Amino acid sequence: MAPLGVSSTSCGPRLAAVLLLAVTAVLGLGAAQLCDEYYDQTCPDVHRIVRRVLKKAHEADVRIYASLTRLHFHDCFVQGCDGSILLDNSSSIVSEKFARPNNNSARGYPVVDAVKAALEEACPGVVSCADILAIAAKISVELSGGPRWRVPLGRRDGTTANITAANNLPSPFDNLTTLQQKFGAVGLDDTDLVALSGAHTFGRVQCQFVTARLYNFSGTNRPDPTLDRGYRAFLALRCPRDGNASALNDLDPTTPDTFDNNYYANIEARRGTLQSDQELLSTPGAATAPIVGRFAGSQKAFFKSFARSMINMGNIQVLTGTQGEIRKNCRVVNGG
Ligand code: HEM
Ligand SMILES: *[C@@H]1O[C@H](CO)[C@@H](O)[C@H](O)[C@H]1NC(C)=O
Ligand SMILES: *[C@@H]1O[C@H](CO)[C@@H](O)[C@H](O)[C@H]1NC(C)=O
Ligand SMILES: *[C@@H]1O[C@H](CO)[C@@H](O)[C@H](O)[C@H]1NC(C)=O
Ligand SMILES: *[C@@H]1O[C@H](CO)[C@@H](O)[C@H](O)[C@H]1NC(C)=O
Ligand SMILES: *[C@@H]1O[C@H](CO)[C@@H](O)[C@H](O)[C@H]1NC(C)=O
Ligand SMILES: *[C@@H]1O[C@H](CO)[C@@H](O)[C@H](O)[C@H]1NC(C)=O
Repeated sequence: MAPLGVSSTSCGPRLAAVLLLAVTAVLGLGAAQLCDEYYDQTCPDVHRIVRRVLKKAHEADVRIYASLTRLHFHDCFVQGCDGSILLDNSSSIVSEKFARPNNNSARGYPVVDAVKAALEEACPGVVSCADILAIAAKISVELSGGPRWRVPLGRRDGTTANITAANNLPSPFDNLTTLQQKFGAVGLDDTDLVALSGAHTFGRVQCQFVTARLYNFSGTNRPDPTLDRGYRAFLALRCPRDGNASALNDLDPTTPDTFDNNYYANIEARRGTLQSDQELLSTPGAATAPIVGRFAGSQKAFFKSFARSMINMGNIQVLTGTQGEIRKNCRVVNGG
């Protein structure tokens, strides 16, 4: 039994009912905090279990670490990190999976199911789907060579989805002002925007998100002037004008599956893959430009900021304590 009190171990689902309510009442705290020891008593092997399932999935799909990292982002930006992106259509749910930014793009759902199944086996009804996404993102980054951090846990799962909000996720065609607004709306600043965009150091992108830059940027019938000519030629070979819109390319052609700071060097060489990547540096007067320079110059600085920003993103509007539920199946609300 963990000692009661305000020590770092006094956090977990058991205490949620008693201690947390008392503390909340006494101190008038609005929302409970997440903590990294949340499952230490109730599911001590949670990290090992997630890691095992992810490594297994990676044997069949080298892209999976990137895909899972993105799922956490698309979860957190839509009514907070509540696992809403995982819900399928049902009588009460209009699934976010079919929103424009997710449809035929967000992936990794069966691996989340496999993680959930393994956790239900080991500690039934304990680990939320929202926390699974946070842990999976952290382990994915780590296994790809990126930074390690202690991931705050204790999120509960929501019982609703919002496809309207999912349709409003940051778009690769948004200008920098709009990206800053969308990040600002969830409490994330320019450093978070630049650091988190660094997740485009791994994973893939479909031609449909780059062809406008190659042939008809902003309706000019010209390429994006901020795109390096050599890189444009390289992408044009892979994404011909009337080619397969779903064909895949590496987001970071230098080290496609490694989590490193090459993303920023690419941008400095005008080889950002998405318009939204290049804008961080190339928008005239961009406040984000010096941050790109700092991360290009120091992988250590990037890793430190990335870890902090992932924690910031993972804290967006979380449900805690007795809010929401712990879903039994990540695809459906309990009793739904
Ligand atoms: C700044 C705003 C962002 C925009 C506009 C954006 C847009 C995109 C787009 C268009 C793709 C390609 C999807 C496809 O071709 O199907 C993509 C992939 C990806 N994004 Fe982002 N993204 C942003 C921020 C982030 C953040 C904050 C993260 C995570 C921290 C992230 C992680 C990823 C990863 C890992 C991939 C590759 C996924 C895979 O291979 O399955 N992105 N993003
Ligand atoms: C889920 O519902 C949405 C919105 O009603 C619809 O566009 C989509 O096709 C449905 N998907 C499935 C698999 O039923
Ligand atoms: C999602 O993609 C499918 C093709 O796989 C398409 O038929 C469907 O119309 C798309 N749904 C929405 C809501 O755009
Ligand atoms: C869904 O998201 C939209 C856009 O963020 C918001 O205006 C709307 O109030 C949300 N709907 C619900 C039911 O929360
Ligand atoms: C950015 O995009 C928004 C929305 O499309 C637009 O209203 C705004 O004028 C654009 N800002 C700049 C600086 O281009
Ligand atoms: C270029 O884009 C503009 C605006 O999006 C569009 O009206 C035009 O038809 C496109 N040109 C070609 C050749 O596809
Ligand atoms: C387009 O590319 C996707 C992704 O590589 C592939 O699955 C699909 O079969 C291709 N479609 C055609 C018509 O070649």
